[in-house]
Amino acid sequence: MMLRPFRRADLNILHEIDTACFPPGVSYSLEELEAFIAHRNSRSWIAEEEGAIIGFLIAQRTPARLMHVITIDVKEMWRRRGVGQALMDVAEEWGRREELKLATLETAEDNHPAQAFYRKRGYKKLGWVEHYYANGASAWVMGKRLR
Ligand SMILES: CC(C)(COP(=O)(O)OP(=O)(O)OC[C@H]1O[C@@H](n2cnc3c(N)ncnc32)[C@H](O)[C@@H]1OP(=O)(O)O)[C@@H](O)C(=O)NCCC(=O)NCCS
Repeated sequence: MMLRPFRRADLNILHEIDTACFPPGVSYSLEELEAFIAHRNSRSWIAEEEGAIIGFLIAQRTPARLMHVITIDVKEMWRRRGVGQALMDVAEEWGRREELKLATLETAEDNHPAQAFYRKRGYKKLGWVEHYYANGASAWVMGKRLR
């Protein structure tokens, strides 16, 4: 497995992966994904195995010096092999280099695997946003100090 930066030609595959990873209303549209990736304060990393994309992460630096994880997606057949961990490692390293204080993210109330994944990395539940997602699901806000 190797990590590399995003390339324009990846966009449709990332959208397919995101659609498979999340229910409708939680997954992003192609246009939303494109806008997040293109944002000047965003960074995206692609996990690749033998030329095929198996996961990705998009993070954004906010004006309040937070690293906001927009999404992290690993294809189902590649989970529990350290891909998510490698993507979070590289994003958090970037956040530290950028001197960001805190990494934050939202995760759906019923996404227990993701909550376990973040908890293992030291993220704590910081807040709750009622009906955060377009499908009505609420979200936990989780975060971890980067410095
Ligand atoms: C959450 C996600 C990114 C984790 O990616 P991954 O590559 O499977 O994670 P890793 O293999 O690096 O897991 C690292 C550790 O996190 C924890 N973890 C990961 N998945 C877990 C699960 N399903 N249940 C419990 N703990 C889990 C474990 O402690 C794991 O270490 P171990 O396998 O040695 O026990 C992946 O499940 C995913 O893409 N899910 C769908 C999309 C999603 O929900 N993204 C998060 C949005 S908020």
